[in-house]
Amino acid sequence: MRVVRSVRSIQQLIRKAKSAGKTIGFVPTMGALHDGHRSLLRRCHRENDLVVLSIFVNPKQFGPEEDFGKYPRREQADKKLAKKEKVDIMFVPTAEEMYPEGYLTYIEVERMTHVLCGKSRPGHFRGVTTVVGKLLNIVMPDVLYLGQKDAQQAAVVTRMARDLNFSVIVKICPTVREADGLAMSSRNEYLTVSQRKEAKVLYRSLREARQNVTAGNHSAMAIISKIRSRITRAGSGRIDYIECVDADTFTPLKRIQGKTMIVLAVWFGKTRLIDNIIVHA
Ligand code: PAJ
Repeated sequence: MRVVRSVRSIQQLIRKAKSAGKTIGFVPTMGALHDGHRSLLRRCHRENDLVVLSIFVNPKQFGPEEDFGKYPRREQADKKLAKKEKVDIMFVPTAEEMYPEGYLTYIEVERMTHVLCGKSRPGHFRGVTTVVGKLLNIVMPDVLYLGQKDAQQAAVVTRMARDLNFSVIVKICPTVREADGLAMSSRNEYLTVSQRKEAKVLYRSLREARQNVTAGNHSAMAIISKIRSRITRAGSGRIDYIECVDADTFTPLKRIQGKTMIVLAVWFGKTRLIDNIIVHA
């Protein structure tokens, strides 16, 4: 495995691989790798000749009051995991390499970035699309792998790739969960022992909601209020949002129809967790 820190060096390696006819799969991350990231790397390895992993805690997607400073950074452990998962190139740029002095250009997807996580985290998706757009231009992959866990991010990046004619296939991989159902996330480690116990209510309430939909309850308001009371009863979780949305556009729905996503964000102390489930009606 090659660990590469400069745009120039990775582009040389990529050009060489491309001229040898190799297909390139790409998994962008912010590191502190866990089994969720690992599942993306495995699929990437199965489906491509060359596996590229990026690790970059992107300052532009964190708000001024957010956890950029304390976000876990552990390159050595990540390197070990990446080697085990047969990553070919691990790209670890510095902030100066990605945003040199004088940097002024941003990618912004409209409308669907102003709701849900976009409402609670102004500027977040602009940071995400900017960095992913740059990474796609640098790595030039055939396939980009994203996780369903960050459903709005996956939908926004898919929209960007389509709108801006990035020549890449976007594949969205299922959410990997802990034994009690909590979606794996680098942020779970911020939780106290009691918050961690309470947090399992998120997926439980989503699964219950899916059962309710299957049983014929198609009113978004009724489904949402059930989830809300389930979470509130379970402990200290403070709800940021719970919504039923169209799975592609993220438009909020009143009635659950066809392929719908139930999405939520809940605060436990200073930690904000997100999760989602897809339902069919
Ligand atoms: P990060 O949170 O490190 O996640 C990297 C990728 O792993 C994302 O596509 C995310 O959806 C996926 N992922 C995270 N947890 C997962 C889980 N439990 N199951 C399946 N996939 C999971 O998302 C980001 O980084 C950044 O915003 C990034 C796209 C790298 C841009 O900076």
